[in-house]
Formats: sequence, structure tokens, C-alpha cells
Amino acid sequence: MADDDNDRAQVNRLAAMGELAAGIVHEVRNLLTSVRGFAQVGRREADIDRAHELFAAIDRESARCVDTLQSFLRFARKRAVARSRVDLNDLVDAAAGLVRHQLSAHDVRLTIERADRPLFVCASADAIVEVIVNLALNAQQAMPHGGEVSVRTCARGGGRVAAIVEDDGPGVPPELADRVFEPFFTTKPEGQGTGLGLAIGAAVAADHGGSLRLESTARGARFVLELPAAPEEAGVA
Ligand SMILES: Nc1ncnc2c1ncn2[C@@H]1O[C@H](COP(=O)(O)OP(=O)(O)OP(=O)(O)O)[C@@H](O)[C@H]1O
Ligand SMILES: [Mg+2]
Repeated sequence: MADDDNDRAQVNRLAAMGELAAGIVHEVRNLLTSVRGFAQVGRREADIDRAHELFAAIDRESARCVDTLQSFLRFARKRAVARSRVDLNDLVDAAAGLVRHQLSAHDVRLTIERADRPLFVCASADAIVEVIVNLALNAQQAMPHGGEVSVRTCARGGGRVAAIVEDDGPGVPPELADRVFEPFFTTKPEGQGTGLGLAIGAAVAADHGGSLRLESTARGARFVLELPAAPEEAGVA
């Protein structure tokens, strides 16, 4: 039984990694194809102003390649970091500390509701904090005129615990509900979003044997990061 669970978790992990890696390869290949196109046109370009425009385009597209590869590397490195037994409540507090200023600068009020008991998970703390940070920033970005974001933690059935990030913005249209988790899916203007936040979040969650899901609500968006609770420590009843 436990072996089956382990196997399934391992399959989920590999699938999440593989899907993300495939998305990255695809994106970087497309970017490099346009870089080559600009370079080929540039070689024949006599007009110096036009040549400068092509160099600027090459610079811009290669910068996107670097950003994309860096996001992936950050993800890959973090998953290699040793897991430790940490309280999900503390990870939520750490994430809140990182985003509080940015949210209040955009008139977004942040409230934290901690479960009334520790919710231990066996996790790479940095990776989980980054997922929660990204969810909070997405919420803020969805509400350019300000609003409310709440992050709460709770125990869910089946030995799982969750951090739930909810906002009162426009929400995600139902037809985009699955697509938002695809690598490089973004509705943000060019240069403002890589579309990797949720894809990496879902991969990090799967990597921990958990999940990241969008739940439908009457208004706003609600993202649920669910993780397996850590086993009780030996000697603790
Ligand atoms: N809280 C939210 N409310 C409404 N739409 C959202 C919310 N969170 C995510 N989305 C939608 O999901 C898309 C994908 O989000 P994701 O975090 O993966 O990428 P991004 O924010 O566009 O770019 P990046 O995170 O790489 O800077 C967003 O462009 C947006 O359309
Ligand atoms: Mg994002």
C-alpha cells in the first residue's frame, strides 16, 4: 500500500518535471529560432539604424531565453535541496513577510489565518515559500486597483494539509481554468509575465506528493496548495 503510494508520487514527480522541461525546451527553441532569423536578416542589412533594431531584437529575445532557463534552474536546484520537517503555518508567514510590502504598495490588503495547530510537512521550505509568494503576487497583479488577499492554512482529510490563497479580483474565466497551469500560458502583456509561475507551482507541489489546484468560487480566485502531512515524529504520541 505504502509502496503503491510511493510509486504514484514518483510518477507524479517525473511527469511534472517532464512536462515543465518539455515546455521550456519548446519555448527556448522558438526564441532561438527568432534570434537566428534576426541575425540572418542582420547579416544582409546595410542600413545601420535597421541593423541596430535587429540587434535590439536579438538582445530582447535572448534575455527571455536566459530568464526562462533561470526559472527552470531555480526550480531544479530547489527540488534537489534536502527536505525538512517544517510547519506550513511558518512557511505562510515567511511568504507573507516577503510580499507584504509589494501588496500594500498596490492597495492590496493581506490577511493571514493560521490553523490553530502546527501543520507539519516534509518539504523544501524555500520552494514552498516561493509557490505561496507567486500565488499572492498573481492575486495582486489580478487586482490593479487594489483588493483583498487572504492566505489560510488548514488540515484537510486524508492526512493532507493545505495553504489556500484567495482574492476578490476578477477570477479566472472557467474556460481558462486548466490552461493557467500550462507552462508559458499568460494573459499578461509581453515582458510582464513568463507564464511559468503556476506551472512551476504545480510541479513543486507534485514533487512533494501534493497538488496545486484552482477551485471555483462565486468571485475572485482561490488556489489551493495541498501537501501530505508529515508523519508524526517518533516518540510523539
Ligand atoms: N489570482 C488570479 N486571478 C486571476 N487570474 C489569475 C490569477 N492567478 C493567475 N491567473 C491567470 O493565470 C495566468 C498564469 O499565471 P502564472 O503565474 O503561471 O503566469 P504569469 O503570472 O502570467 O507570469 P509569471 O508568474 O511567470 O510572471 C496569468 O497570466 C493569469 O491570466
Ligand atoms: Mg505569476
